[in-house]
Amino acid sequence: MTNMPVVALVGNKGGSGKTTLCVNLASALSAAAPTIVLDADPQRSSLQWRNMAEREDAVPVLDAVDDTAAAIRKSRNEYQYVVIDCPPSVHAEQTGHVLAMCDLALIPVQPSPLDIWATVHIEDKVEEARRKNPNLRAVLVINQLESRTRLSRIIRQALAELSLPAAETAIRRRVAYRSSVLEGRAVTDLGSRGAEAANEISQLIDEVVRA
Ligand SMILES: Nc1ncnc2c1ncn2[C@@H]1O[C@H](COP(=O)(O)OP(=O)(O)OP(=O)(O)O)[C@@H](O)[C@H]1O
Ligand SMILES: [Mg+2]
Repeated sequence: MTNMPVVALVGNKGGSGKTTLCVNLASALSAAAPTIVLDADPQRSSLQWRNMAEREDAVPVLDAVDDTAAAIRKSRNEYQYVVIDCPPSVHAEQTGHVLAMCDLALIPVQPSPLDIWATVHIEDKVEEARRKNPNLRAVLVINQLESRTRLSRIIRQALAELSLPAAETAIRRRVAYRSSVLEGRAVTDLGSRGAEAANEISQLIDEVVRA
């Protein structure tokens, strides 16, 4: 099987949207090819989401907290897409294994200068990981952008100061993301209620995952 990118949701801050993007990206990818989620976060939120899922064909989620490296090695041979939810720290052991092995690290960040500046620690970890994993791509994803607002100049300036690129596709703050996770579903399962969210998720996939 050709190896598709192993995608990880990484961050150094709680609540940036790793789990939300993880389950939604994986659910959208699973419509195209066999996909698995690896939950490497001891909070096990992606696993909780899967336990609530009503759809039997919802994307599978594997506990990868204790044996992160082994779970990645096994899953990437068995699935086309592997999407990994990480703990909210780049210093966590699990995040270290993930950065050493994944192809694409997506870093959700809220559109606030403080949050963007705080990603400097992630830049350092990505640099370190690239010594072992030279092809590692790392991209910031603005999450929870207020609907109908554009990125302000101050946010664009803060992003420009970083060495890591930001995706053009920003994910907006939408009720669909909250309600779908509570229901163990993805925005792609919500029909018209989730259409705008499903659109931006597929745009993000086209821009960064399938690029
Ligand atoms: N685009 C969005 N629109 C609306 N709500 C969102 C969006 N992204 C995330 N949220 C909400 O923000 C909260 C934090 O999101 P999430 O749990 O995905 O973050 P996380 O980075 O996984 O957190 P942790 O670091 O604790 O694992 C959740 O309540 C989630 O529903
Ligand atoms: Mg989480």
